[in-house]
Parts: sequence; C-alpha cells; structure tokens
Amino acid sequence: MAQVLRSVAAFRAACDQARVRGLGFVPTMGALHEGHLALVTEAKRHAPIVAASIFVNPTQFGPNEDFARYPRDLEADLAKLDAVGADLLFAPDVAEMYPAGEQTRVNVPLVAAPLCGRFRPGHFEGVATVVTKLLAIVGPCTAVFGRKDYQQLAVIRRLVIDLRLPTTVIGVPTVRDLDGLAKSSRNLYLSPVQRARALAIPRSLAQAQAAFASGERNAATLARVARVQVEAAADDVDYVEVVDADSLSPLMDNKIDDRALIAIACHVGQTRLIDNVVLGEDAPVIVG
Ligand code: PAF
Repeated sequence: MAQVLRSVAAFRAACDQARVRGLGFVPTMGALHEGHLALVTEAKRHAPIVAASIFVNPTQFGPNEDFARYPRDLEADLAKLDAVGADLLFAPDVAEMYPAGEQTRVNVPLVAAPLCGRFRPGHFEGVATVVTKLLAIVGPCTAVFGRKDYQQLAVIRRLVIDLRLPTTVIGVPTVRDLDGLAKSSRNLYLSPVQRARALAIPRSLAQAQAAFASGERNAATLARVARVQVEAAADDVDYVEVVDADSLSPLMDNKIDDRALIAIACHVGQTRLIDNVVLGEDAPVIVG
C-alpha cells in the first residue's frame, strides 16, 4: 500500500530516505488511466522506490478552463497506484503548494510559445512552476512524463537543464485505446458520439505517417493531409502543425530531413484534446 503524504516536509523526508535505494517520480493531476500507470511502470524500471504525486494545479488552468470540474477521485487513484507498485503518494492541497504570499513563477519562454502556448496563455508557466516546486521537494530522482504532452515534456526538459536540477527526465510513448484514441483524463468528458468523432485525431496522425512513409517530406503538405479529417470531425481546431521535433519551431522551407513532430489540438464539444507523433520515429498509430 502506497504511503500517502500530505505535507511538503513529510514528502521531502520520505524521498530523502528512499533516495538511498534509488528514487523514481511520476507527477500527475490524478484521474489516473493506463497512460499514467505506464509512467509508474517505467519509473520502476529505473528505480526501486517510486513516488507519485496527485495535485490538480490551479495555475496551469485558464479562467475559462476545467479546473473546477477536473475529475478528482483519490481513493480510486490510490488503488490503481497500489496495483502497479507505487511506494509513495504526495497529495498536497493548494495552500501547501502555493503558501500565503507566494509570487514566484517559472517561465520557459521560447519552448512554451508555439502550439498550445498560443491558445493557452499562462498554461506552461503554471506547469513549469509546479513541476519545479515538485522536483525541488523530491530532490535527485528519475522523473517520468508522457510524450502525449510533448510540448510540456520539452518545457520540463529545458527547465531541468537551465535550473541545473538534479533530475533525469524520461519521456514515455503515448498509450492508446484499442481504437487509437490517446488515453487522457479528459476523455471522461466525451459522450459516446463525441468519442467516435475524436477518432479523427489518431486517424489523421496515421494518415500523415502513411504519407511520410511513402516519401512525402513537405511539412505543410503533411499538415494539410491531417487537417482535413480533424476539421470535418471537431467543433474547433486550435492547430494541426508539423514542426521541428526538438525546437518546436517551423521547418526551414517546410522541408523535413529525417524527423518532425506533427501535433494536433482541437475541441470536441467542450473538451480540448491533444495528440502528436514524431514522424520518422514513432511506431505507426493503429486505428480501429
Ligand atoms: O501532465 C500533468 O498531469 C501535469 O501537467 C503535471 C506535469 C502533473 C503538472 O501539473
């Protein structure tokens, strides 16, 4: 049974003790699904003791986003963490993470600017701030994040380098349902009809992968191929872009050399969904 810790002091002490044997860390916002559990399993491959955190971080939600209705079920999450062998769970409240008078924020301006950064102002500042706090509490460890949040992972990799944090960052491939939809806590919001429409996202990624495999190397053409399906199915499309997989910047002359990121963000009903693959690197998306 994972030990649940509510205070920064108690969690820090437990991490300090665990680190002697090797410590892995998986930060989450709860509403755990198989994607999160794959992160814990990966952390276990790197370290005998694994700590998870569950904290719905208010600073990464915009004023009209889903902070209030974000699914919260600590008991169910704890049972799932136990099933995959997590040892520690940090579940602080907001005042514990953001003490009275707090004002410090962490910004990673260039990596956070494109893609979701254009549509969710302040989101990556909130993510970078809370992840920095968490990594400062946990101390030296191997921290594991999902590649579904590709830009988030890029922001975290950058801040760990820039702030000289003693963290080894690992990215884990996206876990998908059998029909191809990427696992996400927000899939819980989708009605069956909306969920069926959301399958346009993995379908469009698979189509772009097929075009890439057939030799297409123009980023704009590949983005256009993917966009057609997403536009037909979604209520609103934030972006469908093919960019440099490292810098997330546009590709010079739209030309892809060996690999590129195709990333999608769109709304189905009230639910904002994101997904991506690295063309030339990730396994083909299988769509049912
Ligand atoms: O990916 C998430 O669940 C969150 O953005 C994270 C990394 C736990 C920060 O709140």
